[in-house]
Amino acid sequence: MAVFYAACTLGLEQVLADELRGLGAADLQVRRGACAFTGDLALGYAACLWLRSAVRVQQELARGTVRGRDDLYALAGSVDWSQSITARQTLAIDGAVKDSFANDTRFPVLVTKDAICDQFRARTGVRPDVARDRPDLPLKLVLHGDEAILYRELGGEPLHKRGYREIQHKSPLNEATAAGLLLLAGWDRRAPLCDPMCGSATFLIEAAWLATDRAPGLGRSFAFEKWRDADLDSWRRIYDAAEARAARGAGRLGRLCGNDRHPGAIAIARQAIAAAGLADRIELWHGDAADYVPPVRPGLVVTNPPYGDRLQSDPVSLEASWRTLGGFLHTQCEGAVAYVLCGNPELTRWLGLRSSQKHPVRNGPIECRWLRYEVGAGR
Ligand SMILES: C[S@@+](CC[C@H](N)C(=O)[O-])C[C@H]1O[C@@H](n2cnc3c(N)ncnc32)[C@H](O)[C@@H]1O
Repeated sequence: MAVFYAACTLGLEQVLADELRGLGAADLQVRRGACAFTGDLALGYAACLWLRSAVRVQQELARGTVRGRDDLYALAGSVDWSQSITARQTLAIDGAVKDSFANDTRFPVLVTKDAICDQFRARTGVRPDVARDRPDLPLKLVLHGDEAILYRELGGEPLHKRGYREIQHKSPLNEATAAGLLLLAGWDRRAPLCDPMCGSATFLIEAAWLATDRAPGLGRSFAFEKWRDADLDSWRRIYDAAEARAARGAGRLGRLCGNDRHPGAIAIARQAIAAAGLADRIELWHGDAADYVPPVRPGLVVTNPPYGDRLQSDPVSLEASWRTLGGFLHTQCEGAVAYVLCGNPELTRWLGLRSSQKHPVRNGPIECRWLRYEVGAGR
């Protein structure tokens, strides 16, 4: 049995826990920004392929009391590294240190790397190289007080990198955050869904994949595929089953529509939609949300209007965007449920609606609320 950790955006832990339950994870423990669980290696592979709200899945390799260099060297040396890679493959170690014998990560990372390389050299005469870019074995060392934990990262590249976004919009939502927010909204996966300020269309693409049962990790690679102990037969079965589910689900896509006033955003959105295999399946419009008439009356609106950190800092134009959103909801979305991500509580008053739920969630460094509105009720 392996011990795993899946990490997510702060505020999405329960969504992640639900996703993990659905995959059959055992011994589930919800932590801040993460869930711990146990299972076989195949569960770790399925987690990388299927978790929509996770950004990382890690497997614990060693844990112990570490009060100085020798303890850490011994702990890192206690792992049989030849199970993960050969001496000709590459590794990288990322560190995190709090209240430990070391003030920063540099020394402990070096000690860990030496312990690993010395083990290979002693056994084979050759040592693996360190590669910053796409290492075969990405490791994480966490030192917290006297405790050290060493993990290997199953995904390599973070899981939110689905592969459909080559060009970045100015202020895109992290794909895993967008997917987690959709899960939190409890969308039935059928009601027409609309994002009137869609930017690069992250919500729309994640919603389409959710509705069609397409695993978010299809079409990309994961670090574990290069490991010596990888159970590639199990992985092939998990992957093939996910492909079959996506093929069956493809016909289930309801109406998804979006709009943005920024021509560059719409161009990026179109490109990402095509890269996600969804060309012509999401109806996009380019214009101000004040003039936007969705092609179908939305049942659910999900949106992430500007709130002033990176995209716009002019308070007048921020206010105008929120007023416009309020007008759009009132005129085009009677009877719908709307979820709005907001990182500045001052702005919500311009919607002219009272929220019925406020869920705290982090968007990058910004404390936000995922606000629920019943449009048409309680104006
Ligand atoms: C924070 S970004 C949305 C990012 C998006 N969720 C994504 O993942 O790329 C806010 C978007 O609102 C759009 N916007 C602001 N005011 C608007 C308005 N009045 N009408 C249409 N779009 C508007 C901006 O052009 C910008 O793309």
